[in-house]
Amino acid sequence: MKKALITGITGQDGSYLAELLIDIGYEVHGIVRRSSSFNRERIEHLIQNPDIYRNVLFLHYGDMTDSSAINRILEKIVPDEIYNLAAQSHVRISFDMPEYTGDVDGIGVARILDAIREVGLVGECKFYQASTSEMFGSSPPPQSEETPFHPRSPYAAAKLYGHWMVVNYRQGYGLHASSGILFNHESPRRGRNFVTRKVATAAARIKMGLQDHLALGNLDAKRDWGHAKDYVRAMYLMLQQPGGDDFVIATGKTHSIRNLLDTAFGSLELDWEKFVKVDERYFRPTEVDILMGDASKAKKILGWEAEISFEEMVIELVDSEMKLLKK
Ligand code: NAP
Ligand code: GDD
Repeated sequence: MKKALITGITGQDGSYLAELLIDIGYEVHGIVRRSSSFNRERIEHLIQNPDIYRNVLFLHYGDMTDSSAINRILEKIVPDEIYNLAAQSHVRISFDMPEYTGDVDGIGVARILDAIREVGLVGECKFYQASTSEMFGSSPPPQSEETPFHPRSPYAAAKLYGHWMVVNYRQGYGLHASSGILFNHESPRRGRNFVTRKVATAAARIKMGLQDHLALGNLDAKRDWGHAKDYVRAMYLMLQQPGGDDFVIATGKTHSIRNLLDTAFGSLELDWEKFVKVDERYFRPTEVDILMGDASKAKKILGWEAEISFEEMVIELVDSEMKLLKK
């Protein structure tokens, strides 16, 4: 039985990836951080299944800022595959917490890569790094593996450091290390303060008469939005290749926040213009205006393509919020 270690297992992607790997037949280990309130909602269904939680899913306390915990966990588990998904992943919040974001999203990558070396796992295990389309920043679309990086936030700058550390450990030490440059991907498990989930929740609450307006920031930004379930499949495929590499994972289509509002509110027969107010509090000091990825390398080498469309993803989010409210 292959062993995988997932950092960030309690996050959106970590939870879908854990499901996928358990389905394939892996023993899955996850790093969770201590919190005063419950932070395992997204994997609760796996924890509640005794066949899974007793036999194939194991959780370990740790933090990306704590090298000794990371080293100890690697030494104990000796994983075949490591998926580094843990991050302070909110771009706007990274402007409020640049140092912490750099520590977790940048230096955290160096910590885990060096732990692999310290524990003697180079040659024994494969490494996946959650890189991001935010690293392209102001570089015009379509963005591919050849596009220059121009990060526009502390989050993107920290992720770019992590990205280059992966390239260096691959070239310098021969580690099987891959960077997935993933464009935005969403799901009903998306954090509530990301725009898709925020819009879907508000549309459902307005429909139910529980809310009368929605405050948003920049409505003109455009994103290439896919579904998290499709994107975790790409992570797995990268680690099944003969060597490490970098891959853009995207749908190739872009939509503005206005398009998102049309689709979400439209699915409930609501006119968003009656409810949305622009609030400068949600603006960022520097914005990434447009992201649209070219994933042809992933299609050619990994055989990967997005299967769930933007419209299907948005409607799933709105339906899921309506169900939660009706419960
Ligand atoms: P997410 O839902 O915010 O999950 C982040 C995970 O990291 C959570 O499990 C969180 O734990 C954990 N974490 C945060 N700080 C940590 C720390 N100091 N030590 C240990 N764990 C920590 O993010 P996601 O959407 O699943 O994204 C997964 C990864 O892909 C992230 O690295 C993100 O930056 C990157 N990414 C995401 C997208 C996207 O569109 N979703 C696109 C490109 C790249 P708690 O549950 O305790 O908070
Ligand atoms: N969060 C948020 N809240 N975003 C808003 C709002 C609002 O009220 N109003 C407008 N936006 C705009 C943002 O300015 C941005 O242009 C766009 O909506 C998307 O914002 P987010 O959903 O917060 O995602 P993101 O694109 O900044 O970052 C996500 O995708 C990256 C990949 O490109 C995160 O998942 C990152 O972790 C990920 O790396």
